Amino acid sequence: MADKDVSQAVKNDTAPKANKDRVLIFDTTLRDGEQSPGATMTHHEKLEIAQLLDEMGVDIIEAGFPIASEGDFAAVSEIAKQADRAVICGLARANFKDIDRCWEAVKHAKRPRIHTFIGTSPLHRDIPKLNKDELADRIHDTVTHARNLCDNVQWSPMDATRTEWDYLCRVVEIAIKAGATTLNIPDTVGYTAPMESADLIRGLIETVPGADEVVFSTHCHNDLGMATANSLAAVAGGARQIECTINGLGERAGNTALEEVVMAMRVRGDIMPYYTGIDTTKIMNISRRVATVSGFNVQFNKAIVGKNAFAHESGIHQDGMLKNAETFEIMRPEDVGLTETNLVLGKHSGRAALRAKLKDLGYELADNQLNDVFVRFKALADRKKEVFDDDLIALMRDASVEQSNDRLQIKFLRVICGTEAPQSADLTMSVDGVDHQVTATGDGPVDATFRAVKKVFPHDVDLQLYQVHAVTEGTDAQATVSVRLEQDGRISTGQAADTDTVVASAKAYVTALNRLLVRLEKTAPDADVKDISYRDTA
Ligand code: KIV
Ligand code: ZN
Repeated sequence: MADKDVSQAVKNDTAPKANKDRVLIFDTTLRDGEQSPGATMTHHEKLEIAQLLDEMGVDIIEAGFPIASEGDFAAVSEIAKQADRAVICGLARANFKDIDRCWEAVKHAKRPRIHTFIGTSPLHRDIPKLNKDELADRIHDTVTHARNLCDNVQWSPMDATRTEWDYLCRVVEIAIKAGATTLNIPDTVGYTAPMESADLIRGLIETVPGADEVVFSTHCHNDLGMATANSLAAVAGGARQIECTINGLGERAGNTALEEVVMAMRVRGDIMPYYTGIDTTKIMNISRRVATVSGFNVQFNKAIVGKNAFAHESGIHQDGMLKNAETFEIMRPEDVGLTETNLVLGKHSGRAALRAKLKDLGYELADNQLNDVFVRFKALADRKKEVFDDDLIALMRDASVEQSNDRLQIKFLRVICGTEAPQSADLTMSVDGVDHQVTATGDGPVDATFRAVKKVFPHDVDLQLYQVHAVTEGTDAQATVSVRLEQDGRISTGQAADTDTVVASAKAYVTALNRLLVRLEKTAPDADVKDISYRDTA
């Protein structure tokens, strides 16, 4: 097979050739992020996140791993059909079957991309038991195959940062000659350091023939807390695509956080004269949505999107801030979509006030959605004198997490507790649309409730985490409960808020169970390729 002329494909892409300072943002929240244990999203949630990513100006959305399951395939296909502006990319291992399946899903997009990868470091080469020459042949054949299907092909040498330099140059050259248009260089295990990251990309661009015809990309994991620094260093070295996720979601310590690299280039344009196409005012909203649907809370002191990122509580800070916001602020809260309003809602607040407040918080609701949320808001305001921003965010999260097609749904719960054990829970819960009523006793109200759920729907899961936080202050505060469940290595999380801690616990537990049921339907492939012949197109 003749090697492809890569320059045409680069022209077809949004490659920043025309402007050397434009950095493409490749978001992999729906693939690498979703791959993180417990972060499974439903089909509907993936479509919603993809739409928000598209609207915020992400250049490339990695929508999933189409061969992983029917669900992944359906999500990537739908996202491909719905996307307006972004390139839609799917992941495929280095075999024909994965690549064909990926193409079937992404081909619906206005601008599709196939992303194929294989491990190139000594440790990773050992998994499919391929020697250097055999692996090189496979890279040539699979990239060529992908390029015959799609003129926008990304190739990644997994664990590139621990691959021998000469061999890395050799395989990158093979991939370019076979038609890859984007060369992504992953720091799969978060091992590299910023100076190495810059040198690696610079070295590849200077050494590999044809390198100036393609876009170099960086993909960093955060195991040593250096993902953001490594990604920015890679850009200084010549990379013009950053792979990242919202809130830094991703396996282990996560991936590079989109909001961090985008804001760093914006705030420090004086020393990093690069720019992206991201509308930064949409950052807070999408951050909240991803936290909600993934069940991964954002830590309070997380850069850019943490609850405390713009909070100035100490006296000295407040004084300085009142005189001049720039004393302690290097960016304005509104630049990332954080609006400061002191309007607190209560039970006399009407729809218009609720709509305005939610809009400030980044939620634009259609009339029917507002009606639903208004009913929930009134119920909350009846139990709670003042409804704060955080209460509304928790309420919105619950409203979006509860899905009418969930297999398990709580209909009624009453718990009797007191100084005398055991405590008991009366529960009515529907399973696949059929109501069941039970009473269970336990060691405390939460234990009794979880036992009641188990009585209705017998299951064998390990409760790995049960955590309660107050959303705001005061004895009428809502409690947010987080639950993490594990079964056969599959993990799921659930979160819920309520002024009644036991009700929040029950909802969080059932949410996690519903998600686990979705996750168990997946047949995610192993990361290696040994079980699939790469020429098998059947
Ligand atoms: O971390 C990694 O190496 C990956 C590849 C599939 C790009 O996620
Ligand atoms: Zn990764």
